[in-house]
Amino acid sequence: MDNIILEMRGITKTFPGVKALDNVNLKVHEGEIHALVGENGAGKSTLMKVLSGVYPAGTYEGEIHYDREVRNFSTISDSEHLGIIIIHQELALVPLLSIAENIFLGNEIATNGVIDWKQTFVHAGPA
Ligand SMILES: Nc1ncnc2c1ncn2[C@@H]1O[C@H](COP(=O)(O)OP(=O)(O)OP(=O)(O)O)[C@@H](O)[C@H]1O
Ligand SMILES: [Mg+2]
Repeated sequence: MDNIILEMRGITKTFPGVKALDNVNLKVHEGEIHALVGENGAGKSTLMKVLSGVYPAGTYEGEIHYDREVRNFSTISDSEHLGIIIIHQELALVPLLSIAENIFLGNEIATNGVIDWKQTFVHAGPA
């Protein structure tokens, strides 16, 4: 089958004193749903951070092929532009902000630098 949308080849990621990923390969065909399963510390989050550019190209070994091209993401927005979106497990909510504010944190709906609260609350869902 050649409808591979994502291939991670030989991914190795080392932190001081820890080899978090050791030559990891992952192939995803278009339309497939995968679960990445492993014990605590197995390297699941690290692999997704490599995929999404949290750890930029050059900070790990191996290659990422996405949509038939080799990708060297420098930032999260590079991967987001291609539709790679990560919902991180770590709680990253701000308790003092509203649900709508948390939903759009870092991705605010704004015109000329001013937040559009009406649109923000509409898109956050029914009250
Ligand atoms: N920023 C970091 N600095 C140093 N070591 C790290 C860092 N992030 C992860 N590690 C180590 O790399 C290994 C893989 O961690 P990772 O968080 O990817 O595992 P995980 O599979 O997501 O675990 P969990 O199920 O607990 O979420 C672990 O040994 C962890 O301690
Ligand atoms: Mg994790």
